[in-house]
Amino acid sequence: MKGIVLAGGTGSRLFPLTKITNKHLLPIFDKPMIYYPIQTLVDAGITDIMVVTGGKNSGDFLRLLANGKDFGLKHIAYAYQEGEGGIAEALGLCEHFAAGQPICVVLGDNIIEKDIRGAADAFRAQGRGARILLKEVTDAERFGVAEFDGDRIVGIEEKPKKPKSNYAVTGIYMYDSSVFDKIKTCKPSHRNELEITDVNNAYVAEGTMTYSFLDGWWTDAGTFDSLLRAANLVRQTRGPEAAEDDE
Ligand code: G1P
Repeated sequence: MKGIVLAGGTGSRLFPLTKITNKHLLPIFDKPMIYYPIQTLVDAGITDIMVVTGGKNSGDFLRLLANGKDFGLKHIAYAYQEGEGGIAEALGLCEHFAAGQPICVVLGDNIIEKDIRGAADAFRAQGRGARILLKEVTDAERFGVAEFDGDRIVGIEEKPKKPKSNYAVTGIYMYDSSVFDKIKTCKPSHRNELEITDVNNAYVAEGTMTYSFLDGWWTDAGTFDSLLRAANLVRQTRGPEAAEDDE
């Protein structure tokens, strides 16, 4: 399985922090945000990784990550998203890189406590379709939200005013190679983006969408509050060994 980190977008919810840099280069405690999703992939045994960036600061990713030495990698692939066409459009740029293999996609601002090894193994065994990772939250209206019939997902709603469950669809997605054809059938949403939720619903409609529950804490980091929460969670989880710098 190949890995993809999506790190484009304007980060408009973080202005003015993102006026002169990309959201995914901002610090989360002691590392740039983009380090965390890359580490999530590497920890799941996924080492063939593409980073999709965009905007004026895309060159900074190359200088920061280089060939991936900080993660024990020898190479990182890069793609450039022109404009603001959304998560699914950014993913569509990776078709050539995926080369028919299954992929694990992590949104560049999604930070987790534990690992996704179990879900990745389950998806490898599954062979086709898609697998999403769900997390129970108290503010589901901020996310894509799963609707269930028994233990089956029957639909996903993007930022619903009245969520049909408390299970957020985290920004970690596993897809077979049909994802690229599904993206091509997506139409821009009201915010003029190709939505990853529409891609996921195409798998739901096909009856090939599965899910796992994510262990440990999960947060995004695209708002002032979640950016601060992410840093605090990382700091707390790191424990006493990080405290030497506290004096
Ligand atoms: C995106 C997705 C949403 C998902 C979230 C996870 O939202 O559209 O379905 O739950 O990432 O972080 P965004 O925060 O980019 O608007």
